[in-house]
Amino acid sequence: MADTKPDSKPDPNILTYNVPAVAEYYAALNYLTPCERLLFDQYLQSGMAILDLGVGGGRTTAYLSPIAGRYVGVDYAPEMIAACRKKFPRREFEVGNAADLSRFTSSTFDAVVMAFNGIDYVTPDESRLRALREIRRVLKPEGILIFSSHNPRSIWVRASWNPQRVRGIAETIVGSNSVLFRPLLWSLTAVRVILAGVQSVLHSLRRAARRLPTQTFWQGQGYWMDPAHGGLKTHLAVPERVQRELGGLGYQLLRVLGDDYPLVSRPCVTDWYYYVFSKTGATGET
Ligand SMILES: C[S@@+](CC[C@H](N)C(=O)[O-])C[C@H]1O[C@@H](n2cnc3c(N)ncnc32)[C@H](O)[C@@H]1O
Repeated sequence: MADTKPDSKPDPNILTYNVPAVAEYYAALNYLTPCERLLFDQYLQSGMAILDLGVGGGRTTAYLSPIAGRYVGVDYAPEMIAACRKKFPRREFEVGNAADLSRFTSSTFDAVVMAFNGIDYVTPDESRLRALREIRRVLKPEGILIFSSHNPRSIWVRASWNPQRVRGIAETIVGSNSVLFRPLLWSLTAVRVILAGVQSVLHSLRRAARRLPTQTFWQGQGYWMDPAHGGLKTHLAVPERVQRELGGLGYQLLRVLGDDYPLVSRPCVTDWYYYVFSKTGATGET
């Protein structure tokens, strides 16, 4: 598998993902989101052959490799794979492009996982479609594909704050045994809630100003530049579009869940969705 093949146009994102500091950032992540935990627990079984595609710094390896009968992590950025091998020297990792899985024979894996929106960075469209066909090829019949993808209609940024931090500040100022502790905690909490509300409105306005004028927002599918890590060309699609695209490639939708689970998912709030598809017999392609 070659790093940038099989597309004639070079993928701009690999330059970003192959920066050592970016690989270190991903290698330092060591958690699963509640959404991932729920879906992995529900759809992955012990002993499965699992392909962790766009594995990054191995965030999901610690969870997936112990339950797998065979675990392979693949990423097209050599720096990411070097970080994975350092963290998990006994596990199998390969440098490779999601759009060319020719090193794997057909019907090899029970499950393919592409976490944290890896599929959105497989650009352009032809490469994403090729990757989805390749994934289907290497999946066993009725094999499972779990991945996430950005929601182009996410405009509203939820207010958030850390109550433990507010509590810690109150404890530092007066001590938790003081009679002033409760009144101070309530006052600080009220200030923090108002501040979080203002931040949420400002972030949402900024997001709306960026996203509302785009075709990607109105059509429910397209690209934009995510400023993360200095800029990543990112594909986004609403669930109906994702379902239609994968339905035409021979997948059947089993589940859609907002990454904001256990909060209630909303079309203009949820940042990205996790999808679970199974490989069906027919591709629907002519
Ligand atoms: C947002 S990171 C997610 C990393 C990891 N899956 C996680 O959950 O922490 C996306 C990863 O996909 C990889 N990637 C992007 N396009 C790829 C492609 N065409 N083939 C293989 N890996 C790719 C990037 O190098 C990066 O490591």
